[in-house]
Amino acid sequence: MWTIYLCSALVAAVPLVAVTLHRLFPYLRADILYVRDLAWFLLKFARRRAAFFALDRFLEQAAARPNNPFVVFDDDVYTFASTDQKSNRVANALLAHPRYAAGDPVALFVPNEPAFMLTWLALAKLGSPVALLNSNIRNKSLLHCFGCSGAKALIAAAELKEAVEDVLPSLKEQGVLVLLMVQSCDTPGIESFSDKVDRASDAAIPSSLRAHITYKSPAVYIYTSGTTGLPKAAVVNQSRLLIALAVLSANGVFPSDVIYLNLPLYHTAGFFLGFIGAIETGSTIILKRKFSASQFWDDCRKHNVTVVQYIGEVMRYLCSTPKRENDKDHKVRLAIGNGIRAEISREFLNRFGNIQIKEFYASTEGNVGFINYAGKIGALGRVNFVHRKLFPYSLVKYDTECDEVVRDANGLCIEVPKGETGLLVSKITNIAPFVGYAQNEEQTERKRLRDVLKKGDLYFNSGDLMRIDKDNFIYFQDRVGDTFRWKGENVATTEVSDILTLTDCLKEANVYGVQVPGHEGRIGMATVTVKEGARFDGSQIYNHVVSYLPAYARPRFLRIKDTVELTGTFKQMKVKLVEENFDPGRIEDPLYILDDEHKSYVPLTAQVHSAITAGTMKL
Ligand SMILES: *[C@@H]1O[C@H](CO)[C@@H](O)[C@H](O)[C@H]1NC(C)=O
Ligand SMILES: *[C@@H]1O[C@H](CO)[C@@H](O)[C@H](O)[C@H]1NC(C)=O
Repeated sequence: MWTIYLCSALVAAVPLVAVTLHRLFPYLRADILYVRDLAWFLLKFARRRAAFFALDRFLEQAAARPNNPFVVFDDDVYTFASTDQKSNRVANALLAHPRYAAGDPVALFVPNEPAFMLTWLALAKLGSPVALLNSNIRNKSLLHCFGCSGAKALIAAAELKEAVEDVLPSLKEQGVLVLLMVQSCDTPGIESFSDKVDRASDAAIPSSLRAHITYKSPAVYIYTSGTTGLPKAAVVNQSRLLIALAVLSANGVFPSDVIYLNLPLYHTAGFFLGFIGAIETGSTIILKRKFSASQFWDDCRKHNVTVVQYIGEVMRYLCSTPKRENDKDHKVRLAIGNGIRAEISREFLNRFGNIQIKEFYASTEGNVGFINYAGKIGALGRVNFVHRKLFPYSLVKYDTECDEVVRDANGLCIEVPKGETGLLVSKITNIAPFVGYAQNEEQTERKRLRDVLKKGDLYFNSGDLMRIDKDNFIYFQDRVGDTFRWKGENVATTEVSDILTLTDCLKEANVYGVQVPGHEGRIGMATVTVKEGARFDGSQIYNHVVSYLPAYARPRFLRIKDTVELTGTFKQMKVKLVEENFDPGRIEDPLYILDDEHKSYVPLTAQVHSAITAGTMKL
């Protein structure tokens, strides 16, 4: 009899316990679901006995759903089967070329278009690592990026012909095979490629050609602006690509989903999350050449888009478009990305309806990532016991003035308490390796941090300042050191300053980012000194900057001083300059603004300054 009482008491207690648990641990359910999904994913891979790579997953999908659309671009539809066949053609055309051998590293210089994906798949079938060149870079930067990948061939899109011609003498000297996606080409040293692809067979590529690939083989090189110098090629090994496969599926994206991909494919977000992620889920990608706020929702309606990718800037631009009646008329249910501010995220939800926003954090070369699986507005992830065991990370005290970690009397870093901002560092282990940069041991070493919590330990320095709140949610605060972020791109201040000081009239340049009301990130500004006996020549500096730097990295404001101040450790003083911003009302030094219309740096007037702060002048 008492068992019945006990049972009914227990049954009665269940909701009570559930409610209490929910009070005490409001995110327990989300935590459990997350750990379950993670375990499920790991199990799925553990069950496969043979070596299995991202390409193999694509081949599985091509066999399982041949007629489903995989990529839609303008009015062209590429099914899984036709993507497979077309990439076979590209691969066979390469294989037939006497100057290419399967496995040779190749650089891809192609903007967002299906050819990017077809060529990448073709090269994966041939076992070639691929350097994903930023299609905005030119001249010296282009040569540098090409060079550090060790690539033997360059495949470029038709529209980038001029950029290739600019660096052709140097490519020829290095004996590089240069292929352009056109039917014919009369520039000596550049071969047409599209005609060869059209004539090639679409027969499958024997897997023996990629038999040398292991999980440790480099799969792609992705370029990142680091703390100093020109962009660096982060090596992404095959094992890392497998992790990239998981991100969309772990966020509940299904084969029936339609993903809107408008971020560059040569960056982590577009390539890993959009392209590789959709290979795992078997979804359809609506590929866009670039982001357009005015077309965004019309595209989503036209293609029945269900999942969109974003960076903070995208969300802000969407919110600043004029309101329309049909703002809530779409099928988008999920937005995945990073960098959205809490206030923008509220505005976005109010305006565009019930869309689940999932923030995540991952750097191209870093060894820890977060997903905001509990959906807390503004956070990018959550501290989770299992996750932290797998990827031991910590937030440590950072001195932004001197640009270095703070160490205690024993020479160790100091963990910050909850609620305080610190530098994210994460332990380098076998599951969380830091592969480093191609052919750049010095830069690789700079991202390693030793003696963090114990003598002799080794961590990866993310360069990102974060904060953890009392509910264990993690928030992005700022980037440290010599980089800032503008229009979703990292800008390396030393790279910009090296370029500025190559002009005839400038002696020194101290480059930093300044905040502009209504914008994410920071826009470039430089405090410069003029060479003795020289005159500040705005149009000469303009021409130089435009030919060496992509638009997002060009310093928008110049401030002229007699000297550049240095810190005790001979680093340039930035903090004060950043605070002083670009206000001609506060600064007595001459100020200039980059003016694309007059192709020069022209004096920054009070009117222009107020137009910028009021948001009436676009930057
Ligand atoms: C990544 O690839 C490089 C080059 O093949 C290799 O030396 C390194 O050991 C690999 N690292 C990991 C963690 O797989
Ligand atoms: C979008 O969905 C509607 C209604 O479900 C359907 O009629 C239309 O054909 C779909 N459009 C596309 C491009 O799939």
